[in-house]
Amino acid sequence: MVLISGDPGIGKSTILLQICQHLGNLLKILYVSGEESVKQIKLRASRLGVTSENLLLMAETDIQAILEQVSVLKPDILIIDSIQTMNHTDISSSPGSITQVRECTNAIMHTAKDLEIPALVVGHVNKDGAIAGPKVLEHIVDAVLYFEGDRHNSYRILRAVKNRYGSTNEIGVFDMTEAGLREIENPSVALLSGRPQYTAGTCVTCVMEGSRPILAEIQGLASTTGFGNPRRMATGFDYNRMSLLLAVLEKRAGYYFSNLDAYINVVGGLRLDEPAVDLAVAMALVSSLKDVPISENCLVFGEIGLAGELRAVSHINARISEAIHLGFQKCIVPYHNLKQITINTKGIQITGVRHVREAFESAADA
Ligand SMILES: Nc1ncnc2c1ncn2[C@@H]1O[C@H](COP(=O)(O)OP(=O)(O)O)[C@@H](O)[C@H]1O
Ligand SMILES: [Mg+2]
Repeated sequence: MVLISGDPGIGKSTILLQICQHLGNLLKILYVSGEESVKQIKLRASRLGVTSENLLLMAETDIQAILEQVSVLKPDILIIDSIQTMNHTDISSSPGSITQVRECTNAIMHTAKDLEIPALVVGHVNKDGAIAGPKVLEHIVDAVLYFEGDRHNSYRILRAVKNRYGSTNEIGVFDMTEAGLREIENPSVALLSGRPQYTAGTCVTCVMEGSRPILAEIQGLASTTGFGNPRRMATGFDYNRMSLLLAVLEKRAGYYFSNLDAYINVVGGLRLDEPAVDLAVAMALVSSLKDVPISENCLVFGEIGLAGELRAVSHINARISEAIHLGFQKCIVPYHNLKQITINTKGIQITGVRHVREAFESAADA
């Protein structure tokens, strides 16, 4: 039993319908929607080019009625979209409440395990505290996939956060188009396209999404504050972590931001929470502060400690390989990572840095 969760509108129903197209050639699929009518699903299926003959649709919210049909039809795969709309008549609370969600999931699980049918269940994430959100279900199901991305941006990432029978290190990167989700085979290229040239306040880093290295652009802006209290804003990066980095830059490296507004933006709607991103965030801010661009073909990564020291990061070889692969010629890395480099680094200059103070000079000179 697999839970697919994510914000409303992110594309959960879309990816499931597209899965139906691929699996429908071989298998009989029952797709139950409590959110859309059969007609609406048909309209979407036409837009996505889903033509499978083996796809059975059902618009229903009564979980007992659904499971009865499952026992009769014996599909090879069951899809429930979404768990929050399902209703168990034995329970008085309204659909979407914790008890309803939990009981409906249990009922689906029993039927699915009895009949040995894989079940894919959609669960919405509620922004304000996971009220009956997928969190309460995570321990019941076998695998949990998160579908993430910025709704105003077309990139989507499918990430495994729990998997009883396999790895959680794989991710899928997709582009949401008119004709549905399209796989992005080389996310780094897509994310770096349209990068401004010779501009201060932009820096490229390499993050690990699961076991996959992805290059991402971080933009920083430091500008004179118009009010007494300087503003700080971070999009795609943790706000508190940004404040901490600003404090470290000021106290340990002498870059003064206290009378400046500071902004950070991760391009492409990515959300980066890996410590290895620290150095790129710091460099983007310093570059904007000094109005000196980071050199075009330079990539940086490293975790910054409270003393301003650069701490080693994981997957050093994978990150450098990706940088080489995309034609970067310079890589600023934590000094303590240098001895772990085992790949051939011909064609790329690797600079090991011990302190954030030293990093900007290396990153900025051409
Ligand atoms: N005609 C369209 N062209 C391009 N994208 C569309 C179109 N219709 C819907 N979408 C995309 O699909 C998203 C809705 O996907 P959906 O699978 O219904 O999300 P979920 O099931 O996660 O709530 C929209 O936010 C939009 O990005
Ligand atoms: Mg949906």
